[in-house]
Amino acid sequence: MTLEDITTNIKVCKNCRLYEAAKNPVPGEGNPKAAIAFVGEAPGATEDATGRPFVGRAGKLLEAGLKKIGYAREDVWIGNVIKHRPPENRDPLPDEIKACEKYLALQLNTISPKLVVTLGRFAMNYFYPDGKITRDRGHLVQTKGFNIYPIYHPAAALRNGNMMETFKKDFVRIPNVLNEIINKKDETTSQSTDGQLGLEI
Ligand code: URA
Repeated sequence: MTLEDITTNIKVCKNCRLYEAAKNPVPGEGNPKAAIAFVGEAPGATEDATGRPFVGRAGKLLEAGLKKIGYAREDVWIGNVIKHRPPENRDPLPDEIKACEKYLALQLNTISPKLVVTLGRFAMNYFYPDGKITRDRGHLVQTKGFNIYPIYHPAAALRNGNMMETFKKDFVRIPNVLNEIINKKDETTSQSTDGQLGLEI
């Protein structure tokens, strides 16, 4: 399945009630071969109006962070766990999460990013439900076949000065975290080819 196929499926999805009140689905966008994927919670009002992820105030902060580390929006992939905006930005209900969660899994399996940066508690809990954002943010974790680096949600950072400082501090570390992952991979590769046949079992 290609990313376009997944987008097509999301656009016609009626597996939960959220499509009824939403103006547009927000499937996600960006480089289909991105090394870094950013995952948020669910579309807000601006995203709902445009069908694009992170284009409101939180998105502007995300873009500023990307610029700071030498990336443009187009270089990375940006998406959400939930693809239709919950009415009044309420929390998604368990059955809505259940109905939607397969789409992000399909998207990430297709893109196969080296690093997934989760924005906020909800996106982090998608990968590890027991995670606590205040404790686990800024720490790289490997789980479900992905390297996950949780940071605060930019909308939370915009509401709280201390969180903003931490958000920025965690964000500028993203290139180092990515390098760490790439260097670890190199080590594994050279170890496996050190063997006589260079075969991995
Ligand atoms: N907040 C999110 O979690 N996702 C968006 O796309 C916009 C705001």
